[in-house]
Amino acid sequence: MKALCWHGKGDIRCDTVDDPTIEDDRDIIIKVTSCAICGSDLHLMNGYMPTMESGDVLGHESMGEVVEVGKGHSKFKVGDRVVVPFNLACGECYFCRKKLFSLCDRSNRNAKKAIEVMGHSPSGLLGYSHMLGGYAGGQAEFLRVPYADFGPIKVPDGMDDDQVLFLSDIFPTGWMAAENAEIEDGDTVAIWGCGPVGQFAIQSAWMMGAGRVIAIDKVPERLEMARTHGRAETLDFSDVKIYDALMEMTGGRGPDRCIDCVGTESDAGASADAMLDKAKAALHIGTDRPHVLREAIFSCRKGGTISVPGVYIGMLDHIPFGAAMNKGLTLKMGQTHTHRYLEPLLQKVVDGDIDPSFVITHRASLEDGPDLYKSFRDKEDGCIKVVMKP
Ligand SMILES: NC(=O)c1ccc[n+]([C@@H]2O[C@H](COP(=O)([O-])OP(=O)(O)OC[C@H]3O[C@@H](n4cnc5c(N)ncnc54)[C@H](O)[C@@H]3O)[C@@H](O)[C@H]2O)c1
Ligand SMILES: [Zn+2]
Ligand SMILES: [Zn+2]
Repeated sequence: MKALCWHGKGDIRCDTVDDPTIEDDRDIIIKVTSCAICGSDLHLMNGYMPTMESGDVLGHESMGEVVEVGKGHSKFKVGDRVVVPFNLACGECYFCRKKLFSLCDRSNRNAKKAIEVMGHSPSGLLGYSHMLGGYAGGQAEFLRVPYADFGPIKVPDGMDDDQVLFLSDIFPTGWMAAENAEIEDGDTVAIWGCGPVGQFAIQSAWMMGAGRVIAIDKVPERLEMARTHGRAETLDFSDVKIYDALMEMTGGRGPDRCIDCVGTESDAGASADAMLDKAKAALHIGTDRPHVLREAIFSCRKGGTISVPGVYIGMLDHIPFGAAMNKGLTLKMGQTHTHRYLEPLLQKVVDGDIDPSFVITHRASLEDGPDLYKSFRDKEDGCIKVVMKP
């Protein structure tokens, strides 16, 4: 089959690889009908995530039609259309029973590697490094879905792929980001990053009662989407000093809730801390570029909440923890517990409360994938979200 494969920093190719096969009774194989490129995939492309190997199949936002089921599998049958959550969860362990699905204790078959780095292992992820399970991803014609009797959700008849594909990741991620921000009615919510995750965090913040949403980025079409579709006030970080602007907009108090939808690769032009991060990353003596996290902690009002859906990877330097402590901030974060949100957010789509397809700017084939990875990374050609139809 054809699949998008990682071959090193900046090198993604559309290769021919072996078709997946059933490896466990609980598995299903799907014929992928739609898959998307995520901001998290850029961390792989840009070489920030360790334990990638040449030839690894990428992709963790996929849906499709069931073509084969494992012997012991009874939930789906051949022909069902399903959306697949990006994290793998067994549904039975201590963490799954607590609904902390992205922390499933069983699904990372390479947990030892993760434990060495993090003390404990999060769940396995599709298409996201050997440290997180070494599972082939779904930017491919076919995908093996482990723990498929627990993870995927069946698509109701009459709904098209574009309406439901983002249940796999970015809609639940934006939603959990807003939930973690502990928004109270009328709160001012500042959201860094107007990529796909930021756009869904904006939508979710309104649905949870925000009184004001301030969205921050520098990419014109992303800011425009935040203004028009997201009804947010916007700030261009290449234009204004974000802390000063936020203080001015909130009478000096600061936003009540701050959401970092940027993560490890924040861009911050010529600010001193960002230049230092970039230099350290280039010399492999720094793992992350956490400018946005610093800015959010600095800007957040006293007693406010910082929610971090943006992915961080290693040892972050110069985090103003003293400010966070003395200002009494709450910090909440994590990979999304996607399984928790599948049913309720599908219901919102069915009810017409939201049509997640608003974020799609590019539709293509798998063969176009390597070029579109570049457009998405470089924010060229108005690219905000790429959906591929293998
Ligand atoms: N927690 C989860 O489970 C989960 C799931 C999906 C994605 N993510 C993470 O969420 C983050 C965003 O994903 P995405 O798909 O929207 O990615 P993206 O790369 O498309 O968007 C990131 C945006 O941040 C903007 N940005 C960069 N520096 C900034 C700064 N200093 N201030 C404000 N904005 C800045 C960029 O211009 C870009 O528009 C990534 O880190 C991704 O890995 C996490
Ligand atoms: Zn993702
Ligand atoms: Zn589990």
